[in-house]
Amino acid sequence: MVVLCLEGMVIIMDEKKTIFSGIQPSGDLTLGSYLGAIKNWVELADEYECFYCIVDMHAITVRQEPQLLRKRTLAQLAQYIACGLDPEKNTIFIQSHVPAHAELAWVLSCYTVFGGLSRMSQVKDESAKNADNINAGLFTYPSLMAADILLYQADLVPVGSDQKQHVELARDVAGRFNGVYGDVFTMPEVFIPKVGARIMSLTSPENKMSKSDKDPGGCIYIMQKPEEIMRSFKRAVTDSETCVRYAPDTKPGVSNLMSIYSVASGKSFSEIEAEFEGRGYGDFKLAVGESVVELLRPIREEAERILADKAYIESVYKTGAQRASYVAEKTLRKVYKKVGFVQK
Ligand code: TRP
Repeated sequence: MVVLCLEGMVIIMDEKKTIFSGIQPSGDLTLGSYLGAIKNWVELADEYECFYCIVDMHAITVRQEPQLLRKRTLAQLAQYIACGLDPEKNTIFIQSHVPAHAELAWVLSCYTVFGGLSRMSQVKDESAKNADNINAGLFTYPSLMAADILLYQADLVPVGSDQKQHVELARDVAGRFNGVYGDVFTMPEVFIPKVGARIMSLTSPENKMSKSDKDPGGCIYIMQKPEEIMRSFKRAVTDSETCVRYAPDTKPGVSNLMSIYSVASGKSFSEIEAEFEGRGYGDFKLAVGESVVELLRPIREEAERILADKAYIESVYKTGAQRASYVAEKTLRKVYKKVGFVQK
């Protein structure tokens, strides 16, 4: 709680916890990132102080086509807003617009041990996928991510399970730094929202829906055309049982389609089971596809409208960068002072 005294008035504010998360602009947002992440972010705005970053600096750890990276960064911003993230209530910004990220990352890299970075599975996976370009940025990627989180003194970091290890590393670095210099950084924690859907690939339902899925039919993008969405749902993997029943371990394909249908239509699993009692998978897949088309239609149309409004987009990312810089600079100044840099 913070007590402020302003011209004789006493204002008591409940200090909100801070949330930080980021998504790389390395492709269009997927139905999985919408239902599993962004849809939840929308609900958090009143209760928390939220920072959402488009992490373009992380994206260049693998080769990007410059024009495409620029286009995707702006498209991602438009898509965030179209998904319901209100830029007035949330700080939405582009990582490279706030130089403090690169500056703190350097300092933190001097407090990150080599062995810790070598153990990161994403470093190993990405190195295996990009054998011709295993660059130093790929290796120190987690230091930059730690800087992202620690600059804003984030309490909570909503991420998927694949990112837990990186948040752990950020905690290690924060702990090491605080151990030497006193309480500089807030200790961040992984945040698993109360409601959240883990959406799996439509063609290999044991894996998370991901834009890096080798089979393009496995992933639905929020900007995709209705015909393409329907085509992917018609081809979705099910099982040989012909029975719509929720059993993630034995019926991963059908259960995944049920999760998607449930979030898109608001129906419970038992309502869905009753609706498709005695009907084939063909009908079921059509219904799921149609519900997703209707769910995404207004988002796609709104994103297209926002993207066409260049002045608005620019005002959002400029305001976002200003607000983010204000907080980030404060932390960076403190860190520079602690490590012994001369004040400029
Ligand atoms: N590494 C994350 C991913 O690939 C993206 C990311 C970068 C991030 N910085 C972050 C996520 C800070 C949460 C907090 O998905």
